[in-house]
Amino acid sequence: MRVALTGATGFLGLRLLHELLRRHPSVTVLARGEPDRVRERITRGLDRFAPGLTGLADRVQVVSARITEPGLALPKSDYQELADSLDAIWHCAGNTTLDGDLATLREVNVEGTRYVLDLAGAGRRTPMVFHVSTAFVAGARRTGVVYEDELTDAYGFEGTYERSKFEAEQLVHAWARATGRPVVIFRPSVLTTGLPPHPDLPEHPLLNITRNLSGIARSQLGPGRTPDVLLPRTNRFRILGRPDGQLNLMPVEFAAAVMARLADLPPPDGVETYHVVHGQETPVVVFGRLLEQLSGVRIAVVLELPDPSPYESVLSLVRGVFCYLRHHRRYDDSRVRARLGPAGVPEHISLEYLLSGLPPRTEAAPVDLAPHR
Ligand SMILES: NC(=O)c1ccc[n+]([C@@H]2O[C@H](COP(=O)([O-])OP(=O)(O)OC[C@H]3O[C@@H](n4cnc5c(N)ncnc54)[C@H](OP(=O)(O)O)[C@@H]3O)[C@@H](O)[C@H]2O)c1
Repeated sequence: MRVALTGATGFLGLRLLHELLRRHPSVTVLARGEPDRVRERITRGLDRFAPGLTGLADRVQVVSARITEPGLALPKSDYQELADSLDAIWHCAGNTTLDGDLATLREVNVEGTRYVLDLAGAGRRTPMVFHVSTAFVAGARRTGVVYEDELTDAYGFEGTYERSKFEAEQLVHAWARATGRPVVIFRPSVLTTGLPPHPDLPEHPLLNITRNLSGIARSQLGPGRTPDVLLPRTNRFRILGRPDGQLNLMPVEFAAAVMARLADLPPPDGVETYHVVHGQETPVVVFGRLLEQLSGVRIAVVLELPDPSPYESVLSLVRGVFCYLRHHRRYDDSRVRARLGPAGVPEHISLEYLLSGLPPRTEAAPVDLAPHR
């Protein structure tokens, strides 16, 4: 059985690779870049998860492929040989820049998906397709329950990333309809880990937040006027949100295990979508405190923002991750629970857990853990 995986060098993909190697004698990784370099990254990363299990990476075959190009930019005969030999394709590669340039995001998230689907249709076999999407295809709908079979742009999107992943799902549905082939779509929520950061591991996606907080302010406010200048350390800044809001955060290791277990089931008829989410939402206040720890500034989540400071004005214009502070929706995962039962994820996601997976700030963060008013 030949199984291929894109995105294996990433935060989720490396965990998926680990799960797949537990099930299959070998896994073919489709990655950009020089194969030896990719193998080295994967080997070092896998050693962090399974230090006793030497030789895991020896069972990985790396194919240097560019998913943003037709035929994955492979020589024709190599492409055909690959297509003819595949039994399953996991498509996990993606650009996760929440507010990135839409054309750039589409290159990887939409066109990349198209070319992976082309590969799935190009060979003698009919490989099963597993597509990694996101719970955030639900877009700018901020309240209520999102169901696994819903896919709509009626609420608009909080950012370009969501839109590109929505378009990718549409493409998957169209392909499944046109070919009559089954596809499994996984929609994880915000992925986290408690595994301490290490240079050999893919970067925690939440680290982008720190860059957002300081980078945005620097670029918008001009040279010399850094957030530290504008934000005396004794101050807290207010950010629009719902103090009673909630977000779904899911440990990445559990997410990968759930996806792999779902993939062990018989193929569905048509497209089957699973919300790979935590059973308990995390209060926005906990997320706000995480942002405080990452950014080193105190944050108050407020419903209204009268007399904003310059920095608050800039941040109120920025969507990025901050718009999720206004969310109070939850995701129905009945289908996952019907297939697998309870996921066995830790009861709730605590601030301590979230911090254990992130690098400590070099300067002491002025965190105030008193309840925000
Ligand atoms: N992180 C989350 O919270 C989260 C939540 C829900 C869904 N997801 C989805 O899960 C998937 C993986 O996300 P992640 O958090 O693991 O992201 P990540 O750590 O940034 O990894 C992204 C992966 O995609 C690959 N990739 C990116 N651009 C590429 C390109 N132009 N050509 C080929 N490969 C490319 C990267 O390869 P390089 O190493 O070569 O850059 C890497 O392997 C994505 O589809 C994302 O939408 C993530």
